[in-house]
Amino acid sequence: MDTVRDLNALRESVAAFRAAGQRVALVPTMGALHAGHVALIEAAKRPGTKVVASIFVNPTQFGPNEDLSRYPRREMADIRMLNEAGCDLLWLPSVETMYPDGFATTVHVSGVSDGFDGASRPGHFDGVATVVSKLFNQVEPVAAYFGEKDYQQLAVIRRFVADLDFAIDIVGVPTQRDDDGLAMSSRNIYLDDEQRKQAVALPRALGVAARAIAKGEDVESVLDDARTTLVGAGFTIDYVALADAETLAENPAVDRPRRLLAAARMGATRLIDNIAIEL
Ligand code: PAJ
Repeated sequence: MDTVRDLNALRESVAAFRAAGQRVALVPTMGALHAGHVALIEAAKRPGTKVVASIFVNPTQFGPNEDLSRYPRREMADIRMLNEAGCDLLWLPSVETMYPDGFATTVHVSGVSDGFDGASRPGHFDGVATVVSKLFNQVEPVAAYFGEKDYQQLAVIRRFVADLDFAIDIVGVPTQRDDDGLAMSSRNIYLDDEQRKQAVALPRALGVAARAIAKGEDVESVLDDARTTLVGAGFTIDYVALADAETLAENPAVDRPRRLLAAARMGATRLIDNIAIEL
């Protein structure tokens, strides 16, 4: 796997793939890679496809009081992991390459960005949509792979790709979990042993609630029970909500695909998770 840090070198490498008749697929990440990221690389690997991964800890998607400066950075381990996963090219731009002096453009997606993480983290999805648009224009992939773990992010990306006519197939990959069910996340390393044990309450409470909602139980009381369980396990809740799986509008119709979404803090660590409601 080659690693490129310069935009011209990236464009040359990708052009060589295309000249050899290969499709180009992109897996954007912020590094500190784990098996969840590897699942995206695996999903992207196909005969006739070259997989490009990017690692860029994007400052514009972090709020002023968030963990940008302490976000885990493990370049050597990440490169090793991508090599083992069979990634073909790593794009590792600097902040100056992505946001040179004078940079003044933001991609803002209304509606689907507004609630949930968009409300808790103002500006977060502007940062995501802007950087992902740039990555799409830099790499020009035919397909890009994103985790369902960040469900609202996936919905935001699908929205601007449709709205701005990016000819890129957006593929969602199921959430990869530790053995006890906790969704894998680069931020899980912030949890101490006791918090890590308690954190399993998040996927468990969502699983219980999703089954109850699928059975037709009263949504508000099911959500309240889930909140009570999470608080009992030591979480501070940001939101536990049921939304339309595509638009993320609340109070979705029962005959629509629905998604249960949650964000909660265990100590200083903010965890998110989500689960489909079976139709
Ligand atoms: P990051 O948090 O590094 O995640 C990169 C990709 O891995 C995202 O598509 C995310 O949904 C996926 N992912 C993370 N944990 C996962 C898990 N347990 N199972 C499956 N997929 C998982 O998300 C970002 O970076 C950034 O916002 C980015 C899209 C790169 C833009 O900066």
